[in-house]
Amino acid sequence: MSHEVQGIVARAVGQPVSLETIIVPDPGPGEALIKVQACGVCHTDLHYREGGINDEFPFLLGHEASGIVEAVGDDVTEVAPGDFVVLNWRAVCGDCRACRRGEAQYCFATHNATQKMTLTDGTELSPALGIGAFAEKTLVAAGQCTKVDPAASPAAAGLLGCGVMAGIGAAINTGEVGRGDSVAVIGCGGVGSAAVCGSDLAGAATIIAVDIDDQKLAWAREFGATHTINAANEDVVERIRELTNGNGADVVIEAVGLPATYEQAFYARDLAGTVVLVGVPTPDMKIELPLIDIFGRGGSLKSSWYGDCLPSRDFPMLIDLYMQGRLNLDGFVSETIGLDGVEEAFHKMERGEVLRSVVEIG
Ligand SMILES: NC(=O)c1ccc[n+]([C@@H]2O[C@H](COP(=O)([O-])OP(=O)(O)OC[C@H]3O[C@@H](n4cnc5c(N)ncnc54)[C@H](O)[C@@H]3O)[C@@H](O)[C@H]2O)c1
Ligand SMILES: [Zn+2]
Ligand SMILES: [Zn+2]
Repeated sequence: MSHEVQGIVARAVGQPVSLETIIVPDPGPGEALIKVQACGVCHTDLHYREGGINDEFPFLLGHEASGIVEAVGDDVTEVAPGDFVVLNWRAVCGDCRACRRGEAQYCFATHNATQKMTLTDGTELSPALGIGAFAEKTLVAAGQCTKVDPAASPAAAGLLGCGVMAGIGAAINTGEVGRGDSVAVIGCGGVGSAAVCGSDLAGAATIIAVDIDDQKLAWAREFGATHTINAANEDVVERIRELTNGNGADVVIEAVGLPATYEQAFYARDLAGTVVLVGVPTPDMKIELPLIDIFGRGGSLKSSWYGDCLPSRDFPMLIDLYMQGRLNLDGFVSETIGLDGVEEAFHKMERGEVLRSVVEIG
């Protein structure tokens, strides 16, 4: 049996997304059918729509989601119908060279559902990040479902499925921010604000938030930023140095995805410091830096995919911190909308009005 449900589809580069009837198959071996409860609008959905990720249109967008397991394939043991889960895009294989050396957070062979969801005419859909959760139901690999405390708000919990985990993990896992460190975060949308939160959780003493939008900077303060810089009218590198005794920050997190902001991050870190690139560049972007500076400044230049998270380890832990009032996930939910509000939510994101618009279903 298959399920006819409504979902948000991007059919072509730059064209407004549309609400379409989609066909979701019943779960086969290793798969789970999810009744989606909430799904945040991430900038990566917009990147897909703009053709910045790949050209495998049509896309079923949405990937920052929570929901209830409705059915599972015959051999599935890790989740069962009725479980409240956050969907992840890192279902680890357990068998690749990263997994074998005990670094499953870098798994090189993550998997998704095998069966395809389609439009009613049979056209196969490419689900964003193998999830596709701007839909009443979606089909994922069972390993993409992480059980968390069902008392958590679906809208808040779903955000761990991408942007908030990416930001917190960029600070804690990739940047290895420690107690007393100085951190600068360039770009304080949903991902960057989460990096501010992660730095705060990790005990950073100085947390400098950088954005071109004063509203984003005000929100960043609520998440724990100790200083803010408006990049539209201040020199970012100079100001970060001023705020760190002339040295630069121990860890600088780039959460925009542009060569210009990456260059700022590169020069705003202290000697032997760490740059973490979490913003996603488009394939045409290039950067030129003096090789002597890359050598001479030492330290490490890292990129962070999904905050180097292990969903099974990190999601339940972060939900516990949320339930204890130590992680303000609700603060990221700027508004809740219906499925038909996704296109407008992209515009609000572009205008900088929201951290996260979250689609609520049912
Ligand atoms: N690495 C990952 O795993 C991962 C996961 C999710 C999202 N992302 C990426 O992270 C980036 C941020 O995502 P988001 O959802 O927070 O987007 P967003 O649009 O909400 O946030 C981007 C922020 O950058 C600010 N900005 C733009 N230009 C700037 C500049 N020159 N200087 C300083 N700030 C500037 C904007 O005002 C905005 O607040 C995107 O590129 C997204 O694709 C990466
Ligand atoms: Zn693996
Ligand atoms: Zn995302």
